Amino acid sequence: MNTKNSLTSSRSNALKGDVTIPGDKSISHRSLMLGGLAKGETVIHGLLEGEDVICTANAMRAMGAQIARGDDGIWTCHGVGLGNLKQPNDILEMGNSGTSTRLLMGLVGGHNITVQLTGDASLTKRPMNRVIKPLEAMGVNISASEGGRLPLSMTGPSEVTAIEYKLPVASAQVKSCVMLAGLSAAGITTIIEETPTRDHTENMLRAFGAKVEVTDLENDAQKIQLAGRQKLTGTEIHVPSDPSSAAFPTVAALIKSDSNIKMKNILMNDRRNGIYTTLIEMGADIRFENERIEAGEKVADLIVTGNNPLKGIDVPAARVPSMIDEFPILSVAASLAEGTTTMTGLEELRVKESDRLLMMYNGLKACGVNVEMTEDSMTIHGNGQPPMGIKPGGEPIETALDHRIAMSFLVLGTVTNNAVTIDDGAPIKTSFPNFIGLMNGLGSNIE
Ligand code: S3P
Repeated sequence: MNTKNSLTSSRSNALKGDVTIPGDKSISHRSLMLGGLAKGETVIHGLLEGEDVICTANAMRAMGAQIARGDDGIWTCHGVGLGNLKQPNDILEMGNSGTSTRLLMGLVGGHNITVQLTGDASLTKRPMNRVIKPLEAMGVNISASEGGRLPLSMTGPSEVTAIEYKLPVASAQVKSCVMLAGLSAAGITTIIEETPTRDHTENMLRAFGAKVEVTDLENDAQKIQLAGRQKLTGTEIHVPSDPSSAAFPTVAALIKSDSNIKMKNILMNDRRNGIYTTLIEMGADIRFENERIEAGEKVADLIVTGNNPLKGIDVPAARVPSMIDEFPILSVAASLAEGTTTMTGLEELRVKESDRLLMMYNGLKACGVNVEMTEDSMTIHGNGQPPMGIKPGGEPIETALDHRIAMSFLVLGTVTNNAVTIDDGAPIKTSFPNFIGLMNGLGSNIE
């Protein structure tokens, strides 16, 4: 799908300006899925128009939903109604998107249709057994490639079985998959999460009129209950800006003194904002203005300045789910901090768009950072000074089709003595299509 696109980030001056970060990826996927399913019209403002989300739109269209983008950038869905997704004529192409795949598998599993799904060289390596197992317990028939991977073919049953499922991994994708399949069941689907993960599916189901019950259990665990066959009615959605995308300019500003940037309308859901808590513990100057609730989600405007030096800290493992996608960029901040930063409980990073622990370890080492890695942890010893960057004549950083690895090293290159070149920036389009223009507009030097 992508042609390789090598990019180089060279040392820049301070970053300054006001920018608009694109819409939240998780909320964008869910708005198209539920909008494509619910009866009536759904209007979506601020949808992320990244390749991952477009995969979701195309898949929903292939299954009968009417989804259109207006010239004003507002998207409109006319949903098929629960139970009415139609069997697509072709294999569904999921590109690089794990969220599209795992959530759509839940929706499809609730329909008595046969669907084939495939993806790019990154996605076809990622584990799908985590969703195959509960879907099979719900009656779905799935024939996957070796190791429970894509390409796969699946057929939903005529009657979905409601199950009680304790999540074996802290994963919002698995939780959401089971809930979306449970929408079609006759009974109540129950999910137990030991560590709460992002709750956008719960929130959005409520916005479409469904009742979702959440009960607190001991030690922060939660029970989520959803009765099947509830009415879903189209609604209007305002997608806030993505805090995971905002983390890249945030760290870029923090590690460059005199920087001052403002980002409006950033999603501040408690289960997504662990990176900001962590950076503030490291000493970062991040201010939240105009904090408010919009469409059921907390949002705020962020002001970030590069005035404070960062110091190394221990990141609590319990915080990992609330910043699961932010460890690559946190490791860049830690490389510039004074002292040691330890990050533990990171086993899930091995099965993201790439093995993120390994890719960060290799790349940081190549840039002269003092970094250690175990199976599920990373330790970075910073001395408060910018790392060297890539040695003259050194190889570009390998990014393995991973947008967040690519963006992290481009941020690092804004402060290193030598420039940082990455082998391929094409995957950045999956989540943050205007990243280079936005960063260069703030003063970075990425070509
Ligand atoms: C997501 C959940 C997370 C996250 C991904 C988006 C979601 O994945 O890494 O980028 O939208 O539900 P896991 O559920 O695999 O942790």
